[in-house]
Amino acid sequence: MDSFKITGNRNLSGTIEVSGAKNAILPVMAACLLAPGKSVLRNVPNLIDLKTMSHLLRIIGARVEHVGSTMTIDASDICYIEAPYELVSQMRASIYVLGPLVARLKEARVSFPGGCAIGTRPVDLHLKALEALGVDIAIDHGYIHAKASKLKGAEIYFEKSSVGATINTLMAAVLAEGQTRLLNAAMEPEVDSTIDLLNKMGAKIEGKGSTTLTIQGVENLFPVEMTMIADRIEAGTFLIAGALSTSPVTVANCNPLHLGSALEKLREAGCELLVGESEITVHPPKIIKPFSLITLPYPGFPTDLQAQFMVLATLAEGMSFLEDTIFPDRFMHVAELNRLQADIRLNRNIATVKGVAKLSGAEVMATDLRASAALVLAGCVAEGETIVSRIYHIDRGYDRIEEKLNSIGARITRING
Ligand code: EPU
Repeated sequence: MDSFKITGNRNLSGTIEVSGAKNAILPVMAACLLAPGKSVLRNVPNLIDLKTMSHLLRIIGARVEHVGSTMTIDASDICYIEAPYELVSQMRASIYVLGPLVARLKEARVSFPGGCAIGTRPVDLHLKALEALGVDIAIDHGYIHAKASKLKGAEIYFEKSSVGATINTLMAAVLAEGQTRLLNAAMEPEVDSTIDLLNKMGAKIEGKGSTTLTIQGVENLFPVEMTMIADRIEAGTFLIAGALSTSPVTVANCNPLHLGSALEKLREAGCELLVGESEITVHPPKIIKPFSLITLPYPGFPTDLQAQFMVLATLAEGMSFLEDTIFPDRFMHVAELNRLQADIRLNRNIATVKGVAKLSGAEVMATDLRASAALVLAGCVAEGETIVSRIYHIDRGYDRIEEKLNSIGARITRING
């Protein structure tokens, strides 16, 4: 397993570019199953999770090619209805094939996702919503077996805001007979970009950007071309890199409109921000001010940036509080950051971070995608050398993070192991 050797205490400066958004591309790839023919996606980075999804789509019978940053998905001949345990256990987003398969082939067998490093992540909302559309759901031998003779529009209220359940339901409802209304739907930009793709394909979805979505079912969808949105979480991660530096860092190719709550927190921490149409320059503060944050559904503060902001808090002058309400167990990075001599105490889903003058390099272990990103950021500012092991987690969602950070002055070496 590869690891990163990071020489710390580096000053970062310059411009760093953001890639296409993993969490927008994964559902869009699955949505391509709905339209017979060849769809083309642009701005698609090279990520392990996208390889896993490509593998899954190929098993289902699609032809997937990824050359440079262009991906083509030909879903003309899909025929196989199963998402095997081997793949779903590697990547929970495999559940995204459930909606499209049941809509197009009227049947799907998707392994039940097992445990996850960031806590229990049930799929009950996905299943309830599909049942409301007329899908019979049976659970057998660890698999979700979904079958429908016909999908019928329905009114569906989500008890909890869920990105995955909203998208899966949308992907089924677009081919259902009649009207579906989703209430308390998730409003994340990744939901919007899936809606954009589906509408381009010929679906009729209204209400984008709100919690109520109305879908008029159509009979067929058509393949399309689409450029994927920038990854707001990668952008946020690089903004923290800048905030921890002593020189300005410009994060290019991003959409500042998707980063409102994170930008607000950076300002609270004392950063000065210059916000353009597709780039943000962060001027780091001389002294990082402590802050409090609470993760919430969009447009609230994203859980996917909680770990990275915790690194900023470790070097603030005073006490910061970080609460995760989306994934209350998503704190595996706390123990690792404390190995770097941070001072963090965890009480249930609230971390109390007492700022320290400096972090000190050590060997740490990546536990999940965003926790790994946090450890890399911490390694870049810690004194001495930090080794981050198990970095396949980071390759799942960041395209060449070491090359990108090195281009603005970091010193990170990948050690193949
Ligand atoms: N939930 C349920 N039942 C469900 C579905 C969700 O109780 O059927 C709960 C979850 O346990 C959680 C909350 O609802 O407490 C929100 O979860 P959501 O469904 O929105 O999350 P997700 O769709 O499983 C996506 C991202 C995550 C990101 C979350 C929250 C993808 C592939 N994953 O997960 O991304 O943290 O939304 O924004 O889009 C990551 O990229 O590192 C990552 C974990």
